[in-house]
Amino acid sequence: MPSAIIIGASRGLGLGLTRELLGRGWDVVATRRGDAPELDASGAVVHVLDMDDTSAVTALAASLAGRQFDHVLLNAGVTGPRHALATKATPDEVSALMWTNAIAPIRAARVLLPLVKDGGSIGFMSSILGSIALRGHAHAELYSASKAALNSLTRGFAVQDVAARPVTVLSLHPGWVKTDMGGDGADIDVATSVAGLADVIAGATGGGHHYLDYTGKTLPW
Ligand SMILES: NC(=O)c1ccc[n+]([C@@H]2O[C@H](COP(=O)([O-])OP(=O)(O)OC[C@H]3O[C@@H](n4cnc5c(N)ncnc54)[C@H](OP(=O)(O)O)[C@@H]3O)[C@@H](O)[C@H]2O)c1
Repeated sequence: MPSAIIIGASRGLGLGLTRELLGRGWDVVATRRGDAPELDASGAVVHVLDMDDTSAVTALAASLAGRQFDHVLLNAGVTGPRHALATKATPDEVSALMWTNAIAPIRAARVLLPLVKDGGSIGFMSSILGSIALRGHAHAELYSASKAALNSLTRGFAVQDVAARPVTVLSLHPGWVKTDMGGDGADIDVATSVAGLADVIAGATGGGHHYLDYTGKTLPW
């Protein structure tokens, strides 16, 4: 049975993907940092983890030592300050946003990589807003910069840390999804996004670093 670790699965896309993979017969270890009764009832093996705390990620990896997983997903992310503007942001706001969306996922990935089996994959929940090539506006500039930073750090992770290992690295765009983050006006529901993401993850076996949306379409960096 294929297996996955999903970091940040209390609600939204993380919870949805956990349910989707479980429904496909996967064995899923999923994390929450606070109460998450829906995740607890999902059938996943649940661990408590704040992704911002790398020592907690190290403890999780130690508790799973000896196991190997087909996929690890760093899903947790935050929107950042409501104003979303570089001109209004305080250093603390920028620090918190960049830490959770860009630095913490890479630190966690470096800790969890040994748990990914050969032929498996490790995914980062990026966003199309992280694409410089597609950026013809200044919408959500701080959040977008955090995902662009994540994409850059992920490339370094792919070429340096993963290097010659037969592990595929994914920077994923889930679509604009109706979650607490995406809002009610978003394009697609969680079920549509996670069904596509599960197909993309299951098909990620060829190595390399790929920037893909939930339909499997390649996005320009
Ligand atoms: N929705 C969209 O349209 C969209 C589009 C592009 C990319 N994304 C990305 O997709 C991912 C999931 O988004 P979503 O829409 O599902 O957002 P969401 O509904 O706001 O859920 C965010 C999830 O991340 C968790 N999280 C945040 N910081 C964490 C931390 N430090 N440690 C552990 N968990 C943490 C939250 O846990 P708590 O419940 O404890 O807060 C929650 O489970 C994010 O990375 C987001 O940037 C979303």
